[in-house]
Amino acid sequence: MVFLDLVRQRYSVREFCGRPVEEEKLALVLEAGRLAPTAKNFQPQHILVLRGEQTALAAKASPCTYGAPVVLVVCYDRDNVTQIALNQVNFGYVDTACVITHMMLQATELGLGTCWVGRFDEQALKDTFSLPERYVPAALLPIGYPAETSQPSERHDLRKPLGEIVEFWCESKAKSK
Ligand SMILES: Cc1cc2nc3c(=O)[nH]c(=O)nc-3n(C[C@H](O)[C@H](O)[C@H](O)COP(=O)(O)O)c2cc1C
Repeated sequence: MVFLDLVRQRYSVREFCGRPVEEEKLALVLEAGRLAPTAKNFQPQHILVLRGEQTALAAKASPCTYGAPVVLVVCYDRDNVTQIALNQVNFGYVDTACVITHMMLQATELGLGTCWVGRFDEQALKDTFSLPERYVPAALLPIGYPAETSQPSERHDLRKPLGEIVEFWCESKAKSK
């Protein structure tokens, strides 16, 4: 598929049908995440894979698992993450964002739906899954086949025009500001 068509096809799926996700497809999604770039190639991601009834445990920590047959709990290892002292940036969330984006797009290509979920109770996840202190949950990623009635939300089409978010920088214009 042409890459931009794939990007356009992805939307946040919040309604899944009961069809299970094939192991081979799940493996491809996880592989796409494994190949994602991370700061200094530290690869701090640690991903819990919940399938079937296990997903109910994640649903206790978030209202946004949407009954998906697979839920990934995407964490980063805060003891193995690039820190840039100069800007005080911790790249844990950035690294997991790259990983999740790869996985969402791979899932889309396989006909699966996903939804990035930032709304969860971190402590509840840590307690439920006995996560070591160093694993910081960054997002949940429900995965499954979209229900027939699944539709992109209104927000999906509300992307700003390029002119609002991109500036072709010009020194003389910047100086006159
Ligand atoms: C960092 C991040 C956090 C998000 N958290 C949630 C969430 O907790 N629940 C949810 O339903 N959607 C969540 N979303 C999905 C966004 O609402 C969605 O991507 C946005 O509205 C654009 O819609 P689209 O993904 O269909 O294009 C999140 C997306 C991102 C990138």
